[in-house]
Amino acid sequence: MQIRPFALERYFAEHEFTAELLLCSSDVEAYGLRELLALADDETRGLWEGLSLGYTETAGHPLLRAEIAALYPGLEADDVLVFAGAEEAIFAFAQAALGGEDHAVVVTPDYQSLHEVARAAGAEVSTVELEHDHGWALDLDDVRRALRPDTSALVVNFPHNPTGAHIDHATLDGLVEIAEEAEAHLLSDEVYRWLEHAPAALLPGAAELSPRALSLGVMSKTFALPGLRIGWLACRDRELLGRIAAIRDYTTICSSAPSEILALMALRRFDEVVARSRAIVDANLPLLDEFFAHWQGVFEWVRPRGAAIGFPRFLADVAIDDFARALVDEEGVLLLPASVYGHPGNHFRIGFGRRNMPEALARMERFARARL
Ligand SMILES: Cc1ncc(COP(=O)(O)O)c(C=O)c1O
Repeated sequence: MQIRPFALERYFAEHEFTAELLLCSSDVEAYGLRELLALADDETRGLWEGLSLGYTETAGHPLLRAEIAALYPGLEADDVLVFAGAEEAIFAFAQAALGGEDHAVVVTPDYQSLHEVARAAGAEVSTVELEHDHGWALDLDDVRRALRPDTSALVVNFPHNPTGAHIDHATLDGLVEIAEEAEAHLLSDEVYRWLEHAPAALLPGAAELSPRALSLGVMSKTFALPGLRIGWLACRDRELLGRIAAIRDYTTICSSAPSEILALMALRRFDEVVARSRAIVDANLPLLDEFFAHWQGVFEWVRPRGAAIGFPRFLADVAIDDFARALVDEEGVLLLPASVYGHPGNHFRIGFGRRNMPEALARMERFARARL
């Protein structure tokens, strides 16, 4: 398989564990083990204390699959496959559903694996670009124009990485309709679902709307548990799920036993876990509003509608890569320049899911004052 390096992951590999403050993370402040265990109900505490560290069921722990299925009304435990993070699920989907005869349409800028793994599987990929000047809005006509007779997958991600853009219900319905008409799979990356900034912006999972759609979820973002490496696909097409499951036999085979139980613990306390994440985001986002209002003319952003990230534009006559490099060297604060997305704009990803965001932002402001 010929696959290009994952630019964002390579960038993080260089900086994530050396930079003092991450001002570009897409996850939410992670739980500590003790804090999570305190959420256990009697059943999950019993499962944890009596846990055997053997292999687990390939499709996922039955209780975990049932808990995930309950997030998608109309779906059952057998409509869910558990993976090692969303990343493994993207890989398995592409390997199972796409090959040399296929064409995929992917909305970009994107989390690189959403297009890269499809390409590596042999598919031809067409992109539909979201644009800052259009408020990062998705235009369904652009999607329709990108379709071909051999299009077999449409790949979207809302709330969106890196912009925090979101779609409305009518647009989601439109995507489902387009996929059904094209007889294509709709891979809907919903890893930031439930982190919509206006709760009314919550959409159904795409898998609820059509058997052609797959909803991709993960414990890493909204549920603040990236270290568990637990993700899933929910889909009513069991024949397709069977083919995807067969790929997993060649990757991780099954999930980590402790992680499955810890994920179950968290999902059983869905309201509390999501409220914790939203509280962090809700406290941080107004600080960014103030920052961008103050620095108008230097930074410009389309306010995100979901997720814990945004993709501001840097208007100074300095390349964002140079600014980001100097910022991490001098202040220990990490930004993610648009180049890691292969995006030509002078943009950067900013993250606001961490509790230390105010300090990171204060340091960036001090740096900007000294330099710009
Ligand atoms: C849109 C999107 N999809 C998938 C993933 C992969 O998630 P995980 O690292 O938890 O597997 C990420 C991670 O940043 C993401 O932003």
